[in-house]
Amino acid sequence: MMTIGVDLGTSAVKLLLTEDDGRILNRVTKEYPLLFPQPGWSEQRPEDWWEAVLSGLKELLCGFDASEVRGLGVGGQMHGLVALDAEDRVIRPAILWNDGRTAEETAWLNSAVGKEKLSSLTANIAFAGFTAPKLLWMKQHEPENFARIAKIMLPKDYVNYMLTGVHACDYSDASGMLLLNVAERRWSQEMLEICSVREEQMPRLFESYEVIGKIKPALARSLGLPEDVKVVAGAGDNAAAAVGTGVVGEGGCNISLGTSGTLFISSRHFGVDPHNALHAFAHADGGWHLMGCMLSAASCNKWFCDEILRTKDYAAEQADITPERLGRNRVMFLPYLMGERSPINDTDARGCFIGLSMDTRREDLVQAVLEGVAFAIRDSFEVAKSLGLTIESSKLCGGGARSPLWRTILANVLNLRLEIPQTEEGPGYGAAMLAMVGCGAYESVWACARALVRVTERVQPEKELAARYEAKYQAFRQLYPALKNVFPKLG
Ligand code: XUL
Repeated sequence: MMTIGVDLGTSAVKLLLTEDDGRILNRVTKEYPLLFPQPGWSEQRPEDWWEAVLSGLKELLCGFDASEVRGLGVGGQMHGLVALDAEDRVIRPAILWNDGRTAEETAWLNSAVGKEKLSSLTANIAFAGFTAPKLLWMKQHEPENFARIAKIMLPKDYVNYMLTGVHACDYSDASGMLLLNVAERRWSQEMLEICSVREEQMPRLFESYEVIGKIKPALARSLGLPEDVKVVAGAGDNAAAAVGTGVVGEGGCNISLGTSGTLFISSRHFGVDPHNALHAFAHADGGWHLMGCMLSAASCNKWFCDEILRTKDYAAEQADITPERLGRNRVMFLPYLMGERSPINDTDARGCFIGLSMDTRREDLVQAVLEGVAFAIRDSFEVAKSLGLTIESSKLCGGGARSPLWRTILANVLNLRLEIPQTEEGPGYGAAMLAMVGCGAYESVWACARALVRVTERVQPEKELAARYEAKYQAFRQLYPALKNVFPKLG
């Protein structure tokens, strides 16, 4: 039996064709534009996602017996607001997870409604990228658009809707809307009211591995798929990635170095960070997780190489960063290119290089970028440790995890063993696994992860290097407080 796993990312959609024994038979990536209509704003056209998914599916199945496919799952970028009108037309481009336009609405939610109340209703406070402040923004700034909304959905739910016609969402992704009572896995009526939305505009809720429907018959025929291909609810990309790296059940940790950088700690039990610095969300395995999310991780390296150095050869840029240079860089980088979410929650924050001198070389800057991202992940890691959580090792996935240098830097900055799973495609693989569970190939997400996920490489921190990075991190953590008041003045 074959299954399709889809990762609806920010830079591209990645599709996998998998066998029930976990083998990946084919992979296809399709890129789409990311729009920055104003500084700090970030949008994508849902129509572009769908077009990429459709052409990606055709390419994925080419040369394979599509009639063998039984299930499909999608993991997707979280928090994005997709709004459809009564005729199912997309009302405006989706406002994405790393969009910072809602600073005012976020501040209003956190002060007028109050952090304590938000946390008691949803287990979280407001962050600019979350969906609820975007609804408030739309109501205030685009009232005609807001009045036309018939259906509210998240990015991967739009794909599921186009595939099945079913307006559904899973608990992990719904957690990031600030509209879900995460502990009780239901919409919070009070939050819906605060955002002036009605429950009939909201998707029906499912566990990530539950089947929401079947692919529409005409679509199935056009793709050569059987008419009974089941589509599961899927998950937010971080929960899907955690499934794909086997981080399910109690106390597992996964770090993703994708466009965003996340630290994800799974749990069988519901729990909230008392300071709400880490998000408290539902997991795709039926449990919960805590998560820190930095907005620009691998995207910092991509930006620096693509836009500034004008090269796509990231490995060549890292080739001169030899082991003796690690922990000795005098240049530091703050990775806040889109503002920052966890743990500082500041839409005004911006990226900076600090410590430049006449002898600074190109590779010092490249190294500073990789290190700055690792230090910012450490910020969330410190919050997790302050909650008394013991993390002895972490899985690592995402595009950035492909760089052996970045893995070494991260392991030593965190002073933590990192484990690299055989399959690096966290969210797509996790989404395929959720579909396998939905189709009955495995009895639970946990059983599926135990059967399929293998660690192929371990990166151990080294005592001396970790100590050098400890000193650097102590300097790094002084930078943001020192610059905090400068950022809003940059204009
Ligand atoms: C998580 C988050 C990001 C996106 C990226 O809260 O905003 O990780 O899901 O795709």
